[in-house]
Parts: sequence; structure tokens; C-alpha cells
Amino acid sequence: MTTAIESAELTRVGAGTAMGELMRQYWIPAAMSSELAPDGAPLRLMLLGEKLIAFRDSAGRVGVMDHRCPHRCASLFLGRNEANGLRCVYHGWKFDVDGNCIDMPSVPGHQDFKHKVKAKAYKAVERAGLVWVYMGSRAEASPFPELEVLLVPDDEVGVNCVQRDCNYLQALEGDIDTSHFGFLHAGHVNPEDVAEDHPIRHTVTIRAPEYYVGDTPWGTTYAAYRSAGHGDIYWRFANFLFPFWTQQPQGEFGEHVHARAWVPLDDEHTMFIYLWWKNGSASMARPRPPLKGGKPMGGSRPNPIFRPNTSEWLGRWRLEANEANDWRIDREAQRSNAIYSGIDNIHLQDQAVTESMGGITDHTFEHLAPSDQMITRTRRRLLQAARGLRDKAVAPPGAEDPGVFRGARSGYFISSEKRPWQEIYAQQLAAAVRPGERQQAAE
Ligand code: FES
Ligand SMILES: [Fe+2]
Repeated sequence: MTTAIESAELTRVGAGTAMGELMRQYWIPAAMSSELAPDGAPLRLMLLGEKLIAFRDSAGRVGVMDHRCPHRCASLFLGRNEANGLRCVYHGWKFDVDGNCIDMPSVPGHQDFKHKVKAKAYKAVERAGLVWVYMGSRAEASPFPELEVLLVPDDEVGVNCVQRDCNYLQALEGDIDTSHFGFLHAGHVNPEDVAEDHPIRHTVTIRAPEYYVGDTPWGTTYAAYRSAGHGDIYWRFANFLFPFWTQQPQGEFGEHVHARAWVPLDDEHTMFIYLWWKNGSASMARPRPPLKGGKPMGGSRPNPIFRPNTSEWLGRWRLEANEANDWRIDREAQRSNAIYSGIDNIHLQDQAVTESMGGITDHTFEHLAPSDQMITRTRRRLLQAARGLRDKAVAPPGAEDPGVFRGARSGYFISSEKRPWQEIYAQQLAAAVRPGERQQAAE
């Protein structure tokens, strides 16, 4: 079980907390590149409990900094984004994307001390259609994570964002909680109705999977296995990757190149950022209906409905359905078993259950089961890494050795091999499509 002390260490992400410092060892995806236009309005950006603003200057460079002007703390959100810098509207001081004060017009020339003033700016880069921020204190930023999906050309990567009203950990744990799939998402599906060769058939036939769990160089992995008949095993591999990434098993392993970030905005709000290789099995363009006759599964309405983004601190990429409207649960669909949960969209089903736990789950109220070993192991690994950093200054996995992420792949496959699960994984990975390696070889 997770104690109250462990719970606090796991879930708090502000500056100076154990987990907050761990997260600050990595590059963090923070916004879509398309959210920032040259000389456009600055964007309010909440990240790890810090109120930041992001802007794109006239030359297209991105700046990310504390929203408070270093003069008298007026918000730079109000600022004028003009001529390669952001000018505070209070006394006109102007800052470039690196935080340098480049104009101090409210001070007589002979008293000007702009070269001594710096806004609190963080390093920012753009990759895969996203703005990434390094919030650590080291002068030299950590190397960029070598997640497979970040090794392919940017135009081959799809991205979307959805905000969630709860702590990052309970949101993330939904992705590594394999035993919920046959209930929350597919509890209403009769195995007989599923096409024989569709992978969901195994999931709904045996709803209590057995699985192995292990530590890996990038975090943790589980390998769920079920008999697929004729001596074959249906395998589903999934990963947790430091510090807040997952890879889920809903795709053919051989070309399932994707990553899912659960980025803490603050302790009780999280931005889910999904990156997928458009040419692989994570592509949204190629969903395969599971039911015989090509019918879609109940509750699998394709796109959740978004509210328009606002300029509030937590106003970006929010869904229309939320706790205030009961996540639009349809009790009749639930009663008739048209949709097990009564909620019509798979992402929204996950969102509803994890948000319903409250802003931060009271972990001392839980009763974890043997089927939750991936969750307990992942918490332990996160805690050990956060404490190792805090108490012994040990760099957490992947922060200084980003190549460890290259080995992480998830997905399903059927195998008749009778070897240890780690060997079966290595064998499948060796035979998999590796678009990032192709790209590297071409460079
Ligand atoms: S508070 Fe920003 S210039 Fe004075
Ligand atoms: Fe789910």
C-alpha cells in the first residue's frame, strides 16, 4: 500500500518537492507550436505549479518565462509582443526570449541598469509540433529524450492535447492499469460478436489477465498474457517511462510507435499529450472496427468534444464533459448495456473515472489487488528515483542517458514462443519496424 507520506511525495510537483525536482530533470512538452504566433498574444502556461508565459517573437523564436515582470511583478501576460521582445505594459521594460532586459525606458539613460536585470526564463525548443521546456536548475539542459516517436521527422508525427482535472499520477496509472479494459471500455462487448482475428476478442474473452511486471532501463513494463488457443499466447506489452510517459498496448507491436505524456500543470491538473507516428499502427486514420460486420463498439465515439480554449491559467484543451455535468453519462445506455459505463468515448471514460477519484486520490483509502502490481511497481520506481535524486543527487533514469528510451515499445502480438517474456519482447522488437533508426541511418 501507499502511505500518506509516500502519496505526498509522489503527487506534489511544485518547485522544491521531491517529485517536482525529479520532473525538472527532463524536457517537458508544454504547448502546441501552433498555439504561438509571431508577435501574437502571450500564452498563459501553467507547468509544474509555476505560472509561466510563452510567446513567439518576430523572428519566430519561442520564449518561456515566469509571468511576473522582474521590475514590480506585473504579469507579462498583459505585455506587448513587438519587435523581437515582450514589453511589459506597466513601465515599458522589454525582454527577449532568453529573458534579457533589452530596454528600460522608464529609467533615465545614465541610471539604466538593464544589463543587470533578467526575467526568469527557461530554455525552450520546438520538436514534433510541440514547445518543450527545461525547468531544471543546471546551466546545461539535459539531453533530449530519445523516445522512438521523437526520432522520426516532425511531419510524420501527429499530436493532440487534452487537459484532465486530476493529479498526473492517477491519470497516468489509467494507462498501465490493464485489467480495466475489459470492464470500463468493453464490459458490454460479447466475445461472440467480435471478429475472430481481432485482438479485442482475447481481451473480452478473458477479462482477468495474468501478467508479468519488471523494472526496465526506461521505467517499468508489464506483459499481459492470455491463451489464444492452439498453444499460442496473446501478449500485450505496455510501459511507463520516466518521468510521466506511457506507451499503451492498443496497437500492433511491430509498428506501434507512439508516446503519451501526462504532464502536471499543477498538483490537480494534468495535460495529456499524445504523440503518434502517422505511418504506424498508432495512426488514428486506420482504426479497425472490432465487431463482426464492421460495426463500431458501443461507447467508442471517435472524438471527444472540446470547449474553446481560453486565456485562463487552466483554460487550454478542456473537454465539454466534466464532473459538473456528470461527464454526460447516459444511464439508459448503461442500464441497457449498450455502453458498460454509459459514457460515449474511450478517452472520456478514462477521464471520468480518474477525475472522479478527486483532485488527488487519497491513496490510503485504496485496496490494491494482485492485478495492480504494475501500479505499485511504478510508484515504487518513481519514489526510489525521486529520493535518490533528493538524498544522493543520483540522476533519474533517462535524464542523462536518453538512449534508454529507444528500447521502449508497446503493443500486442501473438506468439507461440515458450521463452521468458523479456526474450520474447527483445525478439519482437528486433523484428519491428524502427522508423527512428531508418532516419538516423539516413543522416
Ligand atoms: S512592472 Fe514591468 S516594467 Fe514595471
Ligand atoms: Fe482506459
